[in-house]
Amino acid sequence: MKTPSVREIRRRYIDFFVTNYAHKEIPSASIIPDNDPTVLFTTAGMHPLVPYLMGEPHPQGNRLVDSQKCVRTDDIEEVGDATHLTFFEMLGNWSLGDYFKDLAIEMSFKLLTTPWVEGGFGLPVERMSVSCFEGDNDAPRDEESKNIWLSQKTSGGAGIPSERIYFLPKKKNWWGPAGLTGPCGPDTEMFYDVCYELPGFKEDLSLHKEGGRASQQKCDVACDCGRYVEVWNDVFMQYHKKLTDEGAKKSAAGENLSPTDFKFDPLAQKNVDTGLGLERMVAILQKKESPFETELFWSAVEVVLKLAQIPFEEGKIPTHVAQSVRIIADHLRAATFILGDKMGVSPSNVDQGYIVRRLIRRAVRHGKIIGINVAFTHLVAEKFVEQYSDVFSELEQNDAFIYEELKREEELFSRTIEHGIKEFEKLIEQKYPAKTGVVSGEDAFRLFDTYGFPAEMTIEEAQRVGMDGIDMQAFKSAFKKHQELSRAGATQKFSGGLADDSEQCKMHHTATHLLNMALRTVLGTHVYQRGSNITKERLRFDFSQDDKMTPEQISKVEEIVNTQIQRDLPVHFEILDVEEAKKSGAIGVFDDKYAALGNKVKVYIMGDFSREVCGGPHVEHTGTLKHFKILKEEACSRGVRRIKAVVEGIKDVV
Ligand code: ALA
Repeated sequence: MKTPSVREIRRRYIDFFVTNYAHKEIPSASIIPDNDPTVLFTTAGMHPLVPYLMGEPHPQGNRLVDSQKCVRTDDIEEVGDATHLTFFEMLGNWSLGDYFKDLAIEMSFKLLTTPWVEGGFGLPVERMSVSCFEGDNDAPRDEESKNIWLSQKTSGGAGIPSERIYFLPKKKNWWGPAGLTGPCGPDTEMFYDVCYELPGFKEDLSLHKEGGRASQQKCDVACDCGRYVEVWNDVFMQYHKKLTDEGAKKSAAGENLSPTDFKFDPLAQKNVDTGLGLERMVAILQKKESPFETELFWSAVEVVLKLAQIPFEEGKIPTHVAQSVRIIADHLRAATFILGDKMGVSPSNVDQGYIVRRLIRRAVRHGKIIGINVAFTHLVAEKFVEQYSDVFSELEQNDAFIYEELKREEELFSRTIEHGIKEFEKLIEQKYPAKTGVVSGEDAFRLFDTYGFPAEMTIEEAQRVGMDGIDMQAFKSAFKKHQELSRAGATQKFSGGLADDSEQCKMHHTATHLLNMALRTVLGTHVYQRGSNITKERLRFDFSQDDKMTPEQISKVEEIVNTQIQRDLPVHFEILDVEEAKKSGAIGVFDDKYAALGNKVKVYIMGDFSREVCGGPHVEHTGTLKHFKILKEEACSRGVRRIKAVVEGIKDVV
């Protein structure tokens, strides 16, 4: 059989559900979440669909399929091994209150095991294992899923035997909300055994994977050795994780919460949320050690190896530079997608901008390590723009912005390094005149934290002046402390949120639509939404506009919003064809891909004042908001201003 291409694998997944099981294909949502204050990036396919999992009707119906762009940054420091990726595509099929465990598992089994020529992925069933939820006080042991797995058979009659079905605890087999509260449920995960292709493999042994070889130690799906690659996860979303009354009090007082501060109520509807990692499936079907050797990354990897003047064989990354090359390729792919998103952000010191800055700088640093001495990040990005031009055309549309931002950040980082070297020299003169021993972890951390000077460079500089490097352990603990503090800050900052469906968030969400329209009335129709972040406490709205607003413009906007609140406009939605919606004057981001798929959109209508494409939820009447006030108007990034505002109505529900 010919090796399937990335394009064919992605299509195969989507078409399987569209053709055989009446799913509607929907385009990927933005990588930067809209209206969701709980996370910086879309980390899973379910994210943009939360309102629908909670019961809002979806304009495309209740069976959906998509490939969602995702970014996960928690394990950014682990990138460099064979499986961790910062950006990835999550293929998913969705039941919004429609099918549940039976059909979900049946479809997963069929797609994975049906031979490629008959429309499946053709994985041998003897290499599959699955896991189910073992049960706890919140939800029962999932025997039902196990039995459904046991009843699945290929056309040749083979199935997954009971000894390859594992029961694991919540930590492994439960998908929870990204924020504190929200839809969640037990899951069942599918694993593929990659040991079969390793030298030394004997089928009758439970093997452990070590240094690319199979050893004879026992291992199973719960082991992290890399033998069992999780390829797919079916989540049965049937619970709503909520704070108990006691938990809510603690949360309001900013106290630490424990598992007993939450309860799990049944959701109004039972949903299925699934996630299959495209990159992993590509590596498996193209029979490569990691996604980096596949077609997804190879053209970018080639550019990197050539610039570093490292000899290589086609399709193989030389081992001595593998880690750096993987980091460069992974980080620049993620940066390309973040910059190129329709809600794209520039590198900065806050939120998503900070992450993209770190990704670019880490890539540049590894470029230096392997000997690249020219500005190169945009050259690597060009390959990704090409690679994805047919599926994520936003990259091509925004290519000039992507390249410009990469070049600028690379240049800025070079200056940071020069500056850091000067600070390093000052430090040595003042504190380490003898130039012996190591630089303390605290000093190295200060250079990193204050001047952005990476620890690796402090080590190099210390060795250059004759010292032994830095106290790495102390540096790591200072770094960890800092990470913990910033993580705690992030959770506090983002407690609550639209995802939890509270009245306060709905009010701020409705106010955001009124504000959007008022800004367009006062400033002009060049204004459109560039980001929105809603908590119970305030709304935050980013919009395209170059100049700072004058105090008169701010008052005028407030006045318009307040007039619409006083008019107590009814709020409702309609589901319309894209063309119909456009004709009706609805604003919002119309995704061309939606139109291409013949999809319908949901338009929220507030009396005769506002029509906007949106998933919801909203309050039913604008009068509930009572009064609207802008707290702050400030610059956000180039060409984007930011407004923070509150409504008074929330006082009635606190
Ligand atoms: N939400 C599930 C996951 O990301 C499917 O694994």
